[in-house]
Amino acid sequence: MEKIVSLAKRRGFVYQGSEIYGGLAGTWDYGPLGVALKKNIENLWWKRFVLDREDMYGIDAALLMNPNVWKASGHVDGFADPLVEDVKTHRRYRADHLLEEAGVDPKGMTAAQMDQTLKEKGIRSPDGNTLGDVKQFNMMFKTSIGASGDESSISYLRPETAQGMFVNFKNVMDTFHPKLPFGMAQIGKAFRNEIAPRDFIFRVRELEQMEIEYFVRPEDWRKHFDYFLNEQKDYLTKDLGLPEQYIHSVEVPAVDRAHYSKHSVDTEFDFPFGQKELLGLAYRTDFDLGAHAKASGVDLSYYDEETKERFTPHCIEPTFGVGRLFLAILSGAYAEDEKNGEVRTFLKFSSNVAPVKAAVFPLLKNKPELVAKAREVYVDLKVQIPQLMWDDNGNIGKRYRRQDEIGTPYCITIDFDTLGESGDEKKDTVTVRERDTGEQTRLPISELAKKVNGS
Ligand code: GAP
Repeated sequence: MEKIVSLAKRRGFVYQGSEIYGGLAGTWDYGPLGVALKKNIENLWWKRFVLDREDMYGIDAALLMNPNVWKASGHVDGFADPLVEDVKTHRRYRADHLLEEAGVDPKGMTAAQMDQTLKEKGIRSPDGNTLGDVKQFNMMFKTSIGASGDESSISYLRPETAQGMFVNFKNVMDTFHPKLPFGMAQIGKAFRNEIAPRDFIFRVRELEQMEIEYFVRPEDWRKHFDYFLNEQKDYLTKDLGLPEQYIHSVEVPAVDRAHYSKHSVDTEFDFPFGQKELLGLAYRTDFDLGAHAKASGVDLSYYDEETKERFTPHCIEPTFGVGRLFLAILSGAYAEDEKNGEVRTFLKFSSNVAPVKAAVFPLLKNKPELVAKAREVYVDLKVQIPQLMWDDNGNIGKRYRRQDEIGTPYCITIDFDTLGESGDEKKDTVTVRERDTGEQTRLPISELAKKVNGS
């Protein structure tokens, strides 16, 4: 894991948040290559789940919402993690994490059961001190809206993007008149005041989610649930290229399910620190639309013109954390090999997600005719492959190492043969080197786009 964190920083994928001030726990900043990888994750998701379908409506709701949203949704009362305090240092810990570290599986335990187990087993804080009682800690960030600063101004940074879709259900119904089943989709930030942010970008306080609320007839929920479980898997393996053997579906026991869910299946991934939740799928029933209709007094029901029935649709929710997908891709792609006693580090990104699809070099930097030809190739190719990099720093070996470390699938070198100076049959051909094998082939410039795009 340290190697991955260090590479992520060294090569401009992820930096510590507010680093020059010593950082801010649970926040990370994405650098130039990190943004490129993140956008690939998001664009592939948007393509599969929105653009390629006729039944999905994209939205982008405000992060700040009327506080009544969070009362009705159950987050004010129920969005909490089990917290326990070291009675001496007053440092606070997640009770389930302390149990895990002591070799006890906390899955399925209530807060009271965790409290009892910690006490029975005499488990202490990491500093060796006695622990207090386990309490539920609400994870929503409170904020104050406007200048008054009194109780009525309190709102929250949204802890999930989902509610932005439920509160816009009627708007989408009124403007587009969709027929069931249909869904709403959104990519955006969410905030959680995690007790213990950890494992790099795995558990953070400011995160990005990609969520779908898919509305169905109540009796059809299972069919759509199974369908989306399969779609989630296809997105991970076919779009993002994650290895299938690292992916596991795990049914969530009732006591661990979110307050709104009647059935949940998490997809877990083999991260370097163990098998952990990557993304989720929940059957939210009519919990949210029902709760908002009741609290707001606005009718959120659906009228089926064929069956002449009026009812509240039920909801299937596939939810994805962008940061966790990013970390799964990064850790799944990390590889080392050895040649002539030298260790090489490379990222085996699938070309779909690679932040740089190919790099173009002149063989030598101090030969103007080579640089001019290489620039010409680069400029022409960049029109077809926007995620293309120019690199003329250091010698060719160093450039290969650098591109390997950022997972660039192809390196394209323009040399004297390209100029046609040493025999015409190689004129306008270049060397293409493949990242994983290091194999080099000679290709006409006209075939480069096809090669890099894999078609
Ligand atoms: N709307 C449903 C919902 O928010 P969740 O299981 O609490 O469900 C969904 O979160 C996904 O968001 C998780 O599967 C995970 O990928 C991501 N996620 C949640 N909390 C996170 C955190 N603190 N840091 C990073 N990602 C997180």
